[in-house]
Amino acid sequence: MDALHRSFLEHLAQTSPHPLALDIVHAEGCHLTVRSGKRYLDLVAGLAVANVGHRHPKVVEAIKDQCDRYLHVIPYGEFIQEPQVLFAKRLTELLPAGLDSVYFVNSGTEAIEASLKLAKRITGRTALVACKKSYHGSTHGSLSITGNETKKYRYRPLLPDVSFMTFNSMEDLDLVDERTAGVVVEPIQGDAGVRVPDPSWLEALRVRCTAMGAMLIFDEVQTGFGRTGFTFAFERSGVVPDILVLGKALGGGLPMGAFISSSERMHLLTHDPVLGHITTFGGHPLPCVAGLAALEVLIGTDLSLNAERMGLLFKELLVHPLIHEVRGEGLMLAVELGDADRVQRVVYRCLEHGVLGFWFLSCPTAFRIAPPLVIKETEVKSACAIILSALSDS
Ligand SMILES: Cc1ncc(COP(=O)(O)O)c(C=O)c1O
Repeated sequence: MDALHRSFLEHLAQTSPHPLALDIVHAEGCHLTVRSGKRYLDLVAGLAVANVGHRHPKVVEAIKDQCDRYLHVIPYGEFIQEPQVLFAKRLTELLPAGLDSVYFVNSGTEAIEASLKLAKRITGRTALVACKKSYHGSTHGSLSITGNETKKYRYRPLLPDVSFMTFNSMEDLDLVDERTAGVVVEPIQGDAGVRVPDPSWLEALRVRCTAMGAMLIFDEVQTGFGRTGFTFAFERSGVVPDILVLGKALGGGLPMGAFISSSERMHLLTHDPVLGHITTFGGHPLPCVAGLAALEVLIGTDLSLNAERMGLLFKELLVHPLIHEVRGEGLMLAVELGDADRVQRVVYRCLEHGVLGFWFLSCPTAFRIAPPLVIKETEVKSACAIILSALSDS
């Protein structure tokens, strides 16, 4: 172990006993390079962040240009900052009516927290409904609506008045009632191991929320920005939420989250109490220009279509007696092996051969494929060849 690795373990707080500890010196497109010079084909994309590829030239150029103008100047909301305004305007041009006002924050979990507050403020109610096996972030509110008990039991008490429905269960829609302020759902569950619901369930959920006066909140932190073959995953079912939560790829590789709703609803955060939600760094100009540049690349080069095509290619090529199924849409995929130990062996074997796959928080029997959406056919083919050979060796 070299000095840098030792300092990493000694001076950086750790999140698990066995971090991969790849010592990254360079990243570009779909590739990561470590200090030894070894290159990895990245099937993780910084966990669904680098959708337009690592260090896309347009993103880097926008960041450098903004660095020459100004960085942080004031907490969110007070000054007119052109990067914020242009990014919000462009985002809302892509969204349906009712999602026309953007509040920028710093991360996915912060956007979830704020969306819960907004739902309470709009409805004057307190109850929340979320899904079993969901993941919405690591802060207290997000953890409260996360449906994975093993992540929560050491941190109670959490938010009261939260109930959990089974994802994709029509019967459980009854849990949404006149007391419900908000219902938080990932339109495709990510860390549950990529679970795709029936569009009819999302439609029924929309109807139930409207009937009960509850806010439907879609957490598109992981599914957003082309990953599932659509710019936003809700487009697949056509079901439009009352509040849309974004993060990860939103900032083009820089930290950022956002929650989006109607101007009328968002206006409630300005009074009674005034400054109903505030943040110092939310809407920082660097992630705004990076996010806008990444969004233009995503739309301009139709990366959603590439995600759909390359996702289908992964599904076509990943056929092996040990693979139970390849679940998901676009480039948000789970390779189900039905055996957690085998998943470990396969992920490590792939790593030895220069392919970086990853795990899920709530599904140890599958591994994740979520590469940058710029991945090419040749790269998918070589990744699949390595995965299949790792499976045969496992
Ligand atoms: C669906 C979903 N929501 C929220 C979050 C939390 O985002 P962040 O890690 O930026 O706080 C994540 C992170 O993985 C996520 O996958």
